[in-house]
Amino acid sequence: MVEALHIHVRLAKGSDLEAMEWEGEYRRYRRVYQRAMADMRRGRRIILVAEVGEELVGQIFIQLHIHRREFRRGVSSAYIHAFRVRPAYRNRGVGTRLILEAEQVLRDHGLKRAVIAAAHANPDARRLYERLGFRKFMSDPGHWSYVDHLGRLQNVHEPSDILEKWLTD
Ligand SMILES: CC(C)(COP(=O)(O)OP(=O)(O)OC[C@H]1O[C@@H](n2cnc3c(N)ncnc32)[C@H](O)[C@@H]1OP(=O)(O)O)[C@@H](O)C(=O)NCCC(=O)NCCS
Repeated sequence: MVEALHIHVRLAKGSDLEAMEWEGEYRRYRRVYQRAMADMRRGRRIILVAEVGEELVGQIFIQLHIHRREFRRGVSSAYIHAFRVRPAYRNRGVGTRLILEAEQVLRDHGLKRAVIAAAHANPDARRLYERLGFRKFMSDPGHWSYVDHLGRLQNVHEPSDILEKWLTD
């Protein structure tokens, strides 16, 4: 029998940035994470991290204002992204806990709706979102770009469905 995890979810701190790179696997997102941390200081974004013991095992980012109008649908919404759990800790409830905590953060901010992208290539993540009550409302070609840790522009093409969940009190 797999032992239940003691999962602690908290706001990220600047000192978490290195651990969020997962020993280099996500080094390419260094500037993205630094910017997200700066946004958090300005009240625009929230980063939650999940810890098991001393180890940082998961993360989720919440953008408190959605820039793309077609994602907003006229209500106060937030965009959830950069959601991941370390492979050794998957399928034990960490991801579910991070999403539920993110939803509570949105409620605390008076927001009514959460939006998340589910890449067509990632049916496992989509199943999790749907189990938690997210439903598709549009498709998106998923073109986005970021500047990596070496200052190079990286273009990503990740066709996705965009899912939403209305939050109740
Ligand atoms: C998507 C992701 C964040 C999910 O995290 P996770 O911690 O595995 O999520 P959970 O454990 O809460 O849920 C996963 C499954 O385990 C099941 N589960 C949850 N708690 C469980 C437990 N205690 N025991 C057994 N199974 C459990 C859930 O029912 C769920 O099943 P489902 O896939 O049929 O819905 C993780 O797989 C991941 O990091 N993937 C790579 C990055 C990624 O794809 N991110 C999302 C797009 S940006």
